[in-house]
Amino acid sequence: MSDATAAAMRLFTPEGRANPYPIYATLRAAAAVFKTPFGGWMVTRYETVDRILRSSGFRTPRGYREANDPAGPPRYDPGTALALHRRHWLIFQSGDAHTRLRKLIMKVFTPRAVRALTPRIEGLVDELLTPALERGSMEVIADLAYPLPATVICELLGIPAADRDRNRAWAAVTASTIDPMCTDAQIKAAVDAMQEWDVYIRELLAERRRNPGDALLDAMLAVEEDGTTFTEDEVAANATFLFLAGHETTTNLIGNGLYALLRAPDQLERLRSEPGLVENAIEELLRFDSPVQFAPRVAVERIEIEGAVLEEEMPILLALGSANHDPARYDRPDELVVARPDPKPISFGGGAHFCVGAALARLEAKHAFAALVTRTKAIELATESVVWRPSLTLRSLTELRVTLR
Ligand code: HEM
Repeated sequence: MSDATAAAMRLFTPEGRANPYPIYATLRAAAAVFKTPFGGWMVTRYETVDRILRSSGFRTPRGYREANDPAGPPRYDPGTALALHRRHWLIFQSGDAHTRLRKLIMKVFTPRAVRALTPRIEGLVDELLTPALERGSMEVIADLAYPLPATVICELLGIPAADRDRNRAWAAVTASTIDPMCTDAQIKAAVDAMQEWDVYIRELLAERRRNPGDALLDAMLAVEEDGTTFTEDEVAANATFLFLAGHETTTNLIGNGLYALLRAPDQLERLRSEPGLVENAIEELLRFDSPVQFAPRVAVERIEIEGAVLEEEMPILLALGSANHDPARYDRPDELVVARPDPKPISFGGGAHFCVGAALARLEAKHAFAALVTRTKAIELATESVVWRPSLTLRSLTELRVTLR
């Protein structure tokens, strides 16, 4: 077995999840397009990842499989709510179907609507941080990194605050199906969770049809453009997708980002002494430990890329976290430098599927980190080691305990 193959096998183990970056370095050195031992290909160099994201020769995979699917037999019944939702999730659409749905979502997800959230986000950060400051300690994920984006996306979508944690539980189980190495047990749990989540969302939609408000769900139910509207299935599916995409990733940016700063105390102090660096620091934190590590693609038709021949429909994983550490693109990539000139991470993807929520995520992180450094004199890790959740695509800590002064 080659070094690269052995390294790739370690990626999806607890060791790989704890620190995938040395493994990516081995893979980057081995080949631009690498055939993985677990099926399909992986791309780890920045330039190739960026090119494929923007190429019309590749598309995102479909979110479900039919009986005779070239990717193999379905892992769960195509009639389940999980298959139905994934069939309509924006991320798994391509071509005209993607353009149409994305245009409709962008219409109700305007930069103006995001900017208007600023006072609410500031208020929430204050509300969440104040009790932790009084206590002198906090579990960053439960006390700030999760409730901030989850509350915001609930309010944006029109999901009642009292239902936030139920939606989180369904989302956490469902999200595991995004990982390329998810197990049969994870799939079974996701099928059951989505069944419940679907019933919940459709009841909520019925209620909002009776009593419309001015949230995203209402807009999605009402939106019409050139005679096109969302179907009920599309609204339900993209409600679950937007809830999932809208909180989990930002939780990880705040959690992974603060953890990175705590391990580079000089950088934390630099940010504390120059809070004006916060927006640049967030780009660097996105680069340093990307909340989303992989973007999946398939070849539209047989294609040769960097000497590798990919058959039609052949899956290829774009390793965003690795591209962000490519020494051909970044000077001293494994160092966290909050004042790094123009970090430009690839963490929100690129091309047709570039993250819809990038501006919102940046705004939430900006206020969270600004408050953390301006309202404390010191933040210290209150744990010797941390535990990463068993998914690498969505890179997240189970908890992060700190003391605050
Ligand atoms: C730090 C936080 C976030 C990160 C790192 C992130 C990352 C990403 C990435 C890498 C993609 C592209 C995946 C691909 O090309 O395969 C993506 C797509 C997407 N993201 Fe985010 N995201 C974040 C926050 C958000 C938020 C807050 C929302 C919603 C409110 C959101 C909604 C979406 C949607 C809807 C897509 C699909 C776009 C499409 O397929 O056209 N994301 N995100």
